[in-house]
Amino acid sequence: MGWNSLDDMDLAGKRVLVRVDINVPVEDGKVTDDTRIQRIAPTIADIRAKGGLPVLLAHFGRPKGKVVAEMSLQPLVPALEAVFDASVMFCADCRGPAAEAAVAALQEGEVLLLENTRFHAGEEKNDAALAAEMAKLGDIYCNDAFSAAHRAHASTEALAQLLPACAGRLMQAELTALESALGQPQRPVTAVVGGAKVSTKLELLGNLVEKVDTLVIGGGMANTFLAAQGIDVGKSLCEHEMTPTATEILAKAADTGCTILLPSDVVVAREFKAGAENETLAADACPADAMILDAGPATVAAVSDALTASKTLIWNGPMGAFEIAPFDAATNAAASKAAELTKAGRLISVAGGGDTVAALNQAGAAESFTYISTAGGAFLEWMEGKTLPGVAALGQ
Ligand code: 3PG
Repeated sequence: MGWNSLDDMDLAGKRVLVRVDINVPVEDGKVTDDTRIQRIAPTIADIRAKGGLPVLLAHFGRPKGKVVAEMSLQPLVPALEAVFDASVMFCADCRGPAAEAAVAALQEGEVLLLENTRFHAGEEKNDAALAAEMAKLGDIYCNDAFSAAHRAHASTEALAQLLPACAGRLMQAELTALESALGQPQRPVTAVVGGAKVSTKLELLGNLVEKVDTLVIGGGMANTFLAAQGIDVGKSLCEHEMTPTATEILAKAADTGCTILLPSDVVVAREFKAGAENETLAADACPADAMILDAGPATVAAVSDALTASKTLIWNGPMGAFEIAPFDAATNAAASKAAELTKAGRLISVAGGGDTVAALNQAGAAESFTYISTAGGAFLEWMEGKTLPGVAALGQ
């Protein structure tokens, strides 16, 4: 890996511009889930311990280049102070004289949070002038925002070119985990990909069939693959217009030697609601007036066998309608199996993206996974095989 970490930098007395992702849920001015703040804490602690002055750059929401009061980062200060156990100063701009004065006033041990970078139109344009203004505020640039690294923005890309740059601890952990799952993995590798739509995960599936040994397709998108094989999926969620694409992915998998595991049995119901009356049928026996809401036990057994035979697992997306019981059963069972194998030291398990973390948390499996990414869109783009600008800018 060609990037520097904090270990490669001399931090004593230096102002360290740290790009973080604290795009956290806030309700009534209070942070309701501080996971992303917890995950950057080691970086902030490390910089402070080495005598550096952390100056945080971050976006919040999508204000589109305008100052939007509800998207100010200021309400996050108490949550940052609690997690970092440090005084966090705040400056209402991320550039210009006010920011320069705030950085100059920063004392050792303190942390400075600068206002939402997206309040400036130049941020999303990866504007060199804005990056140059931000660069004046620091001696070193540290990117700890893997989850924003799919954006080529001034604070994630252009700025990295202007100062000695390194990856923070979270970025380092994400890149190391992802490399171990798809870069140079221990084989066999199984990928579990679920979720509603093939259309949103086309590139991801196309990339995975080239890289993994077994690809488990679950969730609503499995219905599209079943339909592509001429199976009637009744009223199930299905992108019928995507069936040619699903056929192409199946053909590509045959060429690359990737085994595709589709549901062999399914749980169907006539209503999409918790506790709806349901039955388990062969995957090709969905009644015309019913919909597939989960994979069945034979499918779960096949997935468990694939996981048992694997050394590495990469997981994105639930295997069924996990939000409503009992249609969370396949997701829960597969997640529990992955957790059990990981705990036994037999599987490296990496998961991330959108609903995945919620599904694994609900299954009580997340804590046992080797690594759970905090990233949504960045995780998906990385699974698609794309170069992430924020990572590339660190000199990968
Ligand atoms: C996220 O929440 O996934 C990241 O902060 C990126 O946010 P964005 O999709 O608005 O760029």
